[in-house]
Parts: sequence; C-alpha cells; structure tokens
Amino acid sequence: MEKIAILTSGGDAPGMNGAIRALVRVGIQHGFEMYGVYEGYCGLVAGKIKKLGYSDVSEILARGGTILESSRLPEFKEENVQDQAVKNLKDLKINNLVVIGGDGSYRGALALSKKGINCIAIPGTIDNDINGTDETIGFHTALYNIIDAVNKLRDTSSSHHRCFVVEVMGNNADSLALYSAIACGSELVITNKTGYDEQHIIDELIKNETVYNKRHAIVIASEKIFDVEKLAKRISDETGFSGRSIVLGHIQRGGSPVPEDRILASRMANKAIELIEHGENGKCVCLVDSQIVAKKIDEALTEVNKNNQMLYQLFEDLV
Ligand code: ADP
Ligand code: F6P
Repeated sequence: MEKIAILTSGGDAPGMNGAIRALVRVGIQHGFEMYGVYEGYCGLVAGKIKKLGYSDVSEILARGGTILESSRLPEFKEENVQDQAVKNLKDLKINNLVVIGGDGSYRGALALSKKGINCIAIPGTIDNDINGTDETIGFHTALYNIIDAVNKLRDTSSSHHRCFVVEVMGNNADSLALYSAIACGSELVITNKTGYDEQHIIDELIKNETVYNKRHAIVIASEKIFDVEKLAKRISDETGFSGRSIVLGHIQRGGSPVPEDRILASRMANKAIELIEHGENGKCVCLVDSQIVAKKIDEALTEVNKNNQMLYQLFEDLV
C-alpha cells in the first residue's frame, strides 16, 4: 500500500488541523496508508513518525494549532540533516510527504523533493506570504482575531480621544496589516510597502483631528518596521491625541479556525491527495480566483503579489 506522511512546520496556523483531518480521511478513502510526523522537520529528522487512522483525526476540525505540533529547525538547510530525514522516511517505505507551512517550510519541502521524496506543500501560515496563492490557511482566523481586538480598542479610542498604534504579525509580509486596516477602517496603515515616515504620520493624524474632527484614530502597523511605543509617545507630544501602543502578538495566531480556514484547508488537502495520486512532486496547492490549483513550489514562492497592490489604492481612497 502506498504511504503518505504529513508534517506541519513553522508558526502554527488555525486550520492546520482541518488540513490534517482531510488529508487522512481523503487519503484513506483513496487507498493510501497515512502517517503523521510529529514536531515538524525536527521530528522528521528524529524519526517521530506514527501511523494515523480515521479516528485519530476526530474532533480536531474546530481546534486551533496543530495536533502534529510544529517546530523551527534552522539546520534543515544542511544537506546531511535533510539526508537523515529522507532516510527516516525511506526506512518506513514512505515515498510521499505533505508539508503544511509557510515559505520557509516550502523550501524544506523543495529540498526533500529533489532528494527522491514526492513532496506536496499546502500553505499553512497566518502571514499570507506565499504569493502564488490568494490565501493561506490561518490568514482569515488571524484577521478575525485582529479585527476583534481593534473593535475593542476603538471604544477606548473614541471615549478618550486616543490614538492606538496597533502592531500586527506577518513576519516581513504586509497582508495582515493591509487587510485588517481596510476591515477596521483604520486611519493609517504602515507596512514594508508604505515605508515608515514618522512626520507624515503625525501630519495625517493632525489632519484627521482638525479637518475631519475625528475623536479616535487607529494606526495599524506591520511588525519589524519600527518601535510602536516610541511612535505613540511622539503622537502624545505632537498631536491632540493621547498615543497608546499595543503589540497583539500570539493572540492573533490562536483560537478556533473560522469557516473560511476550515473549508480552505479541506479543499487544499483534497487537492494534495489528488496530486500524489497523479505522481506529482515539488508542487504546492494554491487558491487562485476561488479555484484550487497546483503550481511548482519555486514558482509559487517567486510570483509577484498583485492583489495587495490594488488594495493599497483602495485603502488610500477610503481614508
Ligand atoms: P514558515 O514555514 O512559517 O515560513 P520558517 O520560515 O520558520 O516558517 O520555516 C520553517 C522551517 O522550514 C525552518 O525552521 C527550517 O527547518 C525549514 N526551512 C526554512 N528555510 C529552509 C531552506 N532554505 N531549506 C530547507 N529548509 C528550510
Ligand atoms: O509565521 C507566523 C508568525 O506568527 C509571524 O507572523 C511572526 O513573525 C512569527 O511567526 C513569530 O514567530 P514565533 O512564534 O516563533 O515568535
């Protein structure tokens, strides 16, 4: 019987469990024997691989995180470490591996696919930073988490004439900030694409206050760009708003996946099994214009993100 192993890697994302469940269920239906690799690439190298049956994936669809657990293993870039992973799979006669993760995990999958393991990748990351796919599993839940938090901050913002500078996750990518800025109706968004011009931010806030008579202000900022606390202090010093900063952190990554992520995960897993059935290797599953399609992993990583470019213009027209 042909075997397939599943691995989750990088930052956990809500919906990963839905993908694991669908892979196991659809895989078994299609005559495969299914295996789970525990703790991502660390577990693959250590040989933490167990058979998964139908009931092992019961009651997980609504759970955040990943039942297989995840890890980061920088050494996985080294050939000898990858060779150990290949050996562990081959020893169990496992020729197929589905990797659920972000761009880093995709690079690991690509390396294994060149060493004789048929690898298929599924985008599981809140960052939505794999350009070949319109959406990644976990992105929608993280967005809901951000919006829920900002809705609450807005109450205090309006009641106390405060400006909240809200730092959101995304690693070096801008989707979480950009989409949440549109969904929250924030006054400003700062990402690696907009750049960070502190004087411009101060001028815009003064304009919002004096020209538009706003008593509230929300600034959504991508992480890793600037110090949100420092900006909040300058806002207090130089505008009529009292500045406050908040880093939303891992709250964004947790919780029960929203329906969009559960459905996306199930659809993508179904496609991954189909690709393995057709003997594909080095491919990843993508959502393009509402359709689930396959692309080469290296192509999906290097595409240009055109969706976000259009959304920046929309944001500018809305503020
Ligand atoms: P994500 O998959 O969410 O982007 P990371 O960037 O942390 O998360 O990558 C997850 C893991 O993928 C890394 O810890 C490492 O084990 C593996 N990985 C990342 N880049 C490479 C690479 N160039 N070659 C092989 N493995 C890689
Ligand atoms: O890739 C998901 C992510 O949450 C990023 O948005 C963030 O930069 C990073 O992981 C945080 O990593 P850690 O959980 O290791 O602090």
